[in-house]
Amino acid sequence: KLPIIIDTDPGIDDAMMLTLAFANDDALDVRLVTTCSGNISQNKTNYNARAFLSYIGADVEIARGLEKPIFRELEVAEDIHGESGFGNVQFPEPSLPVSERQAVTAMLETIMMSDEKMTIVATGPLTNVAALLLAHPEVKPKIERISWMGGAAVGGNMSPTAEFNAYVDPHAVEIVFRSGVPIVMSGLDVTHKAFVTPDEAKDILNIGTEFAEKAYHLVTYYLDVMKKTPFHEENYDQVLHFHDVCAVMYLLNPDIFKGQDCYVEVALEGTTAGTTVVDYTNRTGKTANVHVLHTVNREKFVKEFLKAVKIISDR
Ligand code: BDR
Ligand code: CA
Repeated sequence: KLPIIIDTDPGIDDAMMLTLAFANDDALDVRLVTTCSGNISQNKTNYNARAFLSYIGADVEIARGLEKPIFRELEVAEDIHGESGFGNVQFPEPSLPVSERQAVTAMLETIMMSDEKMTIVATGPLTNVAALLLAHPEVKPKIERISWMGGAAVGGNMSPTAEFNAYVDPHAVEIVFRSGVPIVMSGLDVTHKAFVTPDEAKDILNIGTEFAEKAYHLVTYYLDVMKKTPFHEENYDQVLHFHDVCAVMYLLNPDIFKGQDCYVEVALEGTTAGTTVVDYTNRTGKTANVHVLHTVNREKFVKEFLKAVKIISDR
């Protein structure tokens, strides 16, 4: 089993990512979940992670992360994920507690105690991961890789060129990208190809359980939001983008993705802040620091995701 830590800001697609990760517990050993501030405040992301994971019967430590990005003020995405972060879907009060360890301490201790190298999945702003790498560089050789959903070369969803997770905390991206730890980036280039059609979303509903119904209502919630945000891709506003799911799907099924090792840097200030500049053609001549995913086999992606909803539904 691959030992992993998940850093997340649930968040609709974050919840779908957690579904995939915990359904595949024969392949993934989730040792810790930490919450970052992003889609919504830290109070809410931590609460949502505990509520969602309690609901699906996961047994895992959930630690609170940093409240704010490294330099910038926190900008949330309640317009996309709703005020609670879960659209209009409600989950019962969580039974899983808030860990007594702060996220960075919990990550440090989990990594240093592990016999094997650990993988970090990050599906929000990279604040917690950057703080870990800054405060405890001794963890670096013990990190197999960081699989991050964020960034874009294709154009932004927050500013003209910046993707949300990168935009919220560009300084954290800078720290992580320069850390020397292997990074896989699922940016909008690939996540826009990892979509589910409204018909396929009905397949989720047709599984027929209470969980499947909640998952369906979560994912269809932000379809209406997409209709308000035009993009230059065909069908962009008619499909559901499973951004965060890519970061876990890649660990489970790397063969359904295509990517390229590239030098990537991030703009820190001004109107381009948070823009990931991906040097696909190596114009800079600099050594690649990120494996950038750009293509996914969508049919297989959707099939695997549906399988995960069924597994959780049957538990
Ligand atoms: C990313 O932004 C968030 O709103 C999603 O959860 C995802 O992590 C997509 O740009
Ligand atoms: Ca997210």
